[in-house]
Amino acid sequence: MNILVINGSPKGEKSVTMQYVKFIENSFKGHNFSYVNVSQRIDKIEKSKDEFNSIMEKVKESDGVIFATPVYFMVVPAQYKRFIELIHETNSQSIFANKHTFILVTSINFYDHTAVNYLHAVCDDLSMNVVSTFSAKMNDIYEKENQAKLLTLGKLFYNAIDKKIVSKKIYYPIIKSEKSFSLPKVSTKLETDKKIVIISTSKTKDKSLSQMVEHFSSLFKEGLVTIYNLNDVNIKAGCLGCMSCAFDNICVIKDDFMSFFKSSVQSADIVIFATTIEDRHLSSKLKTMLDRSFFNGHTPSIKDKQIGFIISGELGQNHNIKEMIDAYCEVQKSNLVDVVTDEDENVADLLLNLANKSLFLSNEGYIAPRTFLGKGGMKIFRDDIYEHLRVIFQKDHQYYKKNKIYDFPTKNPLQRFVNSFLYLLLKIPVVRKEVKSKMKDEMIKRHKSIAEAQLNR
Ligand SMILES: Cc1cc2nc3c(=O)[nH]c(=O)nc-3n(C[C@H](O)[C@H](O)[C@H](O)COP(=O)(O)O)c2cc1C
Repeated sequence: MNILVINGSPKGEKSVTMQYVKFIENSFKGHNFSYVNVSQRIDKIEKSKDEFNSIMEKVKESDGVIFATPVYFMVVPAQYKRFIELIHETNSQSIFANKHTFILVTSINFYDHTAVNYLHAVCDDLSMNVVSTFSAKMNDIYEKENQAKLLTLGKLFYNAIDKKIVSKKIYYPIIKSEKSFSLPKVSTKLETDKKIVIISTSKTKDKSLSQMVEHFSSLFKEGLVTIYNLNDVNIKAGCLGCMSCAFDNICVIKDDFMSFFKSSVQSADIVIFATTIEDRHLSSKLKTMLDRSFFNGHTPSIKDKQIGFIISGELGQNHNIKEMIDAYCEVQKSNLVDVVTDEDENVADLLLNLANKSLFLSNEGYIAPRTFLGKGGMKIFRDDIYEHLRVIFQKDHQYYKKNKIYDFPTKNPLQRFVNSFLYLLLKIPVVRKEVKSKMKDEMIKRHKSIAEAQLNR
């Protein structure tokens, strides 16, 4: 069988993910694998039709396609995302139709599921047969048990191709609707001393997005909102995944990105990201910015801010994107104010609400409590940086120590002693019976007194 591997790692062959693919290739003899390093070569692919078409020819000739990629910022690298956008922009979707595919990602298991969901939706949109998905933590392949899992899925993949097994779709096509909203002229303008920036990816074709951005800006007095269009910023490339920044938080790419990010996003009180949905995620332009912000490692690089999103596209049909937005803001220790899209007719009201709410919450210094998305995510970072990543990610380690992110629950010896003592105590039947009878009251004792104290203020 001819298997085409579409490699998402900007590191090309020297990629962790590719070693997983090689493992499968080397385990089953008699098949012909070819590789295209789309992320590494995205510049050429974008500029040259021949280059793109030669990849499409390889897809046509293949019996099966492996989408193999690292996870970058909860999705795939921006370059890979761009390649997927190109498939749609060139109307090449039908080339992928009915092909069998295997989705393989590697990561540190931080929002790997959203990356898998994204790719699954992309493949469903391309009418492919997704045979299976496999998400590995970077070094999982060291373990025999994980090698065996990979082999099982390898067999499943070949069998599905051979027997032409059809897969059930999980994601059904997005239903696009005409965007119709009117934006009135603004007479009363808002005033503030807060620094507000809009990071937009708007192009001439994105009429609805431009309208929303202009309107949001016009809600404030002249000069209070600065709009940055990422298309005008000198960003030479997407993140290379080289990790050089891990030691000193300095990116090796010589362009304006670092200074842009510091002077615009990092210095603002209120940040509004304005972009479009392309395929199943926000535009690759915005994704490039997020990936490149990795020069800050695993530290919250836009902390204590009010964040808003203005999106043109069907967010309501893409829950995965909303989950990533929620998680991103929580992990950044910032506050997601609102996400306004052009799906609603009352866009003007929603934009006004976003403006007012941002100012109010910024004045209050409000950051929403973190849910599982932020707390769970940070625990993954905490454990991995502490366990081994700190050797390379030295800046992260320093930050985590200074900001008490190493909050391991077992560190406090007194708490450990109390836990062990109570654990043993509760093995005694009479004590257990007594505790059970008082459990509900005891659990709310302190909460209740705090709530009641408000009456006597
Ligand atoms: C810019 C960047 C962003 C990343 N984002 C994530 C992430 O969101 N979740 C995660 O689990 N790992 C993340 N990683 C880690 C990579 O997914 C992981 O190291 C992967 O195995 C690298 O594969 P590769 O060598 O094939 O490129 C990120 C790495 C980089 C460089």
